[in-house]
Amino acid sequence: MIRDERIPSDELQRIDEEIRSNWPTGEDVDFEEAIEYHESLPDHKRFADVLESADKPLLQPRAGVPRLEDQIELLQYLHQEGQADLLPTTIDSYTRDNEYEKAQQGLEKARETGDDTLNGFPAVNHGVDGCRKLIDAVDAPIEVRHGTPDARLLAAITFAGGFQSFEGGPISYNIPYTKRHGLEETIEKWQFVDRLAGAYTERGVRINREPFGPLTGTLVPPSIAIAIMLVEGKLAATQGVRSITLGYGQVGNVVQDVAALNALKKLGNEYLPDEVVVTTVFHEWMGGFPPDEARANGVISLGGMTAAIAQPDKVITKSPQEFQGVPTKEANASGLRTTRQVIDMAIEQKIDIDGIEEEQDLIERETRCLMDTIFEHGDGDVVQGTLKAFDSGALDVPFAPSDSARGAVLPARDDDGRVRIFEWADLEMDDDIKEIHKARLSQRADTEGRDQSFRMVADDVDAISDGKLIGRPQGDV
Ligand code: 5AD
Repeated sequence: MIRDERIPSDELQRIDEEIRSNWPTGEDVDFEEAIEYHESLPDHKRFADVLESADKPLLQPRAGVPRLEDQIELLQYLHQEGQADLLPTTIDSYTRDNEYEKAQQGLEKARETGDDTLNGFPAVNHGVDGCRKLIDAVDAPIEVRHGTPDARLLAAITFAGGFQSFEGGPISYNIPYTKRHGLEETIEKWQFVDRLAGAYTERGVRINREPFGPLTGTLVPPSIAIAIMLVEGKLAATQGVRSITLGYGQVGNVVQDVAALNALKKLGNEYLPDEVVVTTVFHEWMGGFPPDEARANGVISLGGMTAAIAQPDKVITKSPQEFQGVPTKEANASGLRTTRQVIDMAIEQKIDIDGIEEEQDLIERETRCLMDTIFEHGDGDVVQGTLKAFDSGALDVPFAPSDSARGAVLPARDDDGRVRIFEWADLEMDDDIKEIHKARLSQRADTEGRDQSFRMVADDVDAISDGKLIGRPQGDV
């Protein structure tokens, strides 16, 4: 039975050797030599230090192309033309599925044809040397961003390759990403990733870890996302991680987003051990985007405004080409600059908005209910509690493709556009909180002159890409 306990060092070594034998580039990892490489890096490439010492929100895009030279050029462009503070390396889908052979074929094809035949950078195939060439060539800290349920080999190679930040977690890279992997399995695999990050940390090389806050990216009620961030943060801390960035995805209601970011920071500091430095990241809208670039820039700008008010440590930006998938480098840089312009103008202002404290209080109470039920389900053990709470439906994520979550809970926006819970299913929550949601949703139903129904949920999912926050009936109100 797996529990929230630190992997012993002999076990760490055994697993490490085993997973590195899965692909030829795994052999090039040498932990002691990797520590020396990290120690040789200048201060401005130390991810955790740069992030934790910033005095305003740092901006980071997503970006990954198959060939090393192209990835270097892309990141240099986003750094110079987009003024990104932190850079990403987005990993391709084959690597996320541990299909290194297919990633290799794609990489070779990209080298032959010059086309981007993979949707990201196959870091395992580039190996330790390839990763270091990237780290050496780019003058800012770089994070590995992916979506890999079993990221053990990717972590071993990229940590040795000089990356000091690694996105993902056992729940957040399972529930939205895979049907194939069970939750118990992904927890076990991420315990290794965190333990490896912890091993570097123990030697003075702090690897920043960032659980993926937006989850399914679709109207996730803030308290559900925050509870999962706290669980993943706790699991990482147990394995020795000391720099943790908790994430949250914009829902589009400014009051709720600011309240949620405040709650995330406060509860993160409360629930995670004192020796962990907790930072926060705000993701610009992760749901469907308007197909029109001008409107997309509006969505991005609202994200910038929200970030200026809440002041998270980092913002993951979107591009005006979000609708069509992977953006051009120009569009990617433009999303960064739009965000920068709005933040820099708004951050000088003192903006007081009514209702933030009340909303924050509600989010905190909800999150505590979920955390309590997790602890109770596991008799104090977070791993067992998480498994059992997902199993019973006491913890759930809306629109989850994974079999590990019921996906029975359904959100809908209230009359003010805040995300509430329309169908609770078995989600654990105090009755008085449920009543608040019910009253808010019934207020919307009255405004729209229709019953609360699944129709509302579906209308809300499409609303922002259709140009509005709330999915009101056409032609009404
Ligand atoms: N480069 C840039 N953005 C990417 N995304 C996925 N892969 C890449 C890549 N290689 C972005 C999508 C979407 C988010 C989930 O990730 O465009 O915004």
